Amino acid sequence: MIRLRNPAPAIRIGMSQIEQHIAVPYAFPVAFTRDLFGAGDEALSRYLAETGPLRPHPLLIYVDDGLARAWPRLERVMADWTAAHADLVDLAAPPIRVPGGERAKDGFGVVESVLADIERHGLCRQSMVLIAGGGAVLDAVGLGAALAHRGLRQIRVPSTVLAQDDSGVGVKNGINLFGKKNFAGAFAPPAAVFCDLDLLDTLEDRDWIAGTAEAFKVAVIKDRAFLDWLVEATPAVVARDREVMAGLVRRAAALHVEHIATSGDPFETGAARPLDFGHWSAHRIEAMTDHELRHGEAVAIGMALDCEYAAAIGLITGVERDLVIDALEAMTLPVWHRVLDRTHPSGRRGVLDGLREFREHLGGELCVTLPDGLGRKVEVHEMDEALVLAAIDRLRARALARAG
Ligand SMILES: NC(=O)c1ccc[n+]([C@@H]2O[C@H](COP(=O)([O-])OP(=O)(O)OC[C@H]3O[C@@H](n4cnc5c(N)ncnc54)[C@H](O)[C@@H]3O)[C@@H](O)[C@H]2O)c1
Ligand SMILES: [Zn+2]
Repeated sequence: MIRLRNPAPAIRIGMSQIEQHIAVPYAFPVAFTRDLFGAGDEALSRYLAETGPLRPHPLLIYVDDGLARAWPRLERVMADWTAAHADLVDLAAPPIRVPGGERAKDGFGVVESVLADIERHGLCRQSMVLIAGGGAVLDAVGLGAALAHRGLRQIRVPSTVLAQDDSGVGVKNGINLFGKKNFAGAFAPPAAVFCDLDLLDTLEDRDWIAGTAEAFKVAVIKDRAFLDWLVEATPAVVARDREVMAGLVRRAAALHVEHIATSGDPFETGAARPLDFGHWSAHRIEAMTDHELRHGEAVAIGMALDCEYAAAIGLITGVERDLVIDALEAMTLPVWHRVLDRTHPSGRRGVLDGLREFREHLGGELCVTLPDGLGRKVEVHEMDEALVLAAIDRLRARALARAG
């Protein structure tokens, strides 16, 4: 169960002031299960039986079309499950498919169609939207559900490694706009999250691996023991060992959830973004490759870049830098992409725009999380562009040496 705390300091602005203090305790379960809609698994029915206020809960179901293709019986199984639990849920329409992958987040299209569905089927504020899919579909449908009636209850069924170990257990959603990642979005904690580990079996190798980048991310900045575990577990993960992957997903999810619950800033009002280690460049790299790269792949490159940089300014040793970058490569994650060399007509390196965008997003002051040793972090407020370019040079040299 994740509980969010957000202490707001009182500010005196004048003599005649009405003090407003709103404390909103928020808790939601994150369950790990297998065969969520199978006869033996009661996680979902138990949750629905214990949550209010309507019974049966009016419900719409959204399914990532990549997930639906990989599990051709899934929509039928879901519809049958809701029919068998008519005392708990009232399915307003057959499960609705959403384009999977980053195209789900390309502007407001999916958000608008979710709003239209909710209006057409007469769902109220207390109704539920169950979203099964990868991080992109969760983000886009989640934003639609958060906007209708100022927020319906959202049940997430994340179906990729990344969605289970990071995005699906968090409190944010969003879509891409103006060529910028997650430009429009909202903080909207889910009502509940059910990670069905079986769903991961059908992921393409690429998506099976990409989500591990977010596990490395939390390990490098928060948990050295987990980093060592990841290094050890890598061959089994690459060989698609589902039990080892289940361990990775649970532990990374727990670290993400713990950070959100205990950092004191679940809705990111301050500037620090520890969970965005490696992300200032990753978001730019994703946009520059026209989303040819998965988010996790871009994060791996972003972390390699920031590890080179952290070593250059003495935050980590060369040995520690190589440990992380070698571990990412052993996991078959990319640590280089040719767009790092792309320049504007002015000659300025395009990826550096990521620093400006990140600063803009944070509210003027740059705040980049870097490793401070392994398993610890530090926030820096300046990035020396010449050193960033030198870090890119080192990554290119590494890639060339590897290519032979
Ligand atoms: N909201 C947050 O806090 C947060 C955090 C991290 C990342 N994100 C976002 O998450 C997105 C990336 O998510 P992702 O890595 O899950 O990729 P994704 O959502 O793009 O999915 C990758 C592919 O997997 C397919 N797929 C989904 N489940 C499947 C299954 N079980 N079997 C086979 N195919 C399946 C999808 O259709 C898609 O083609 C990015 O947009 C990123 O910005 C959000
Ligand atoms: Zn991320």
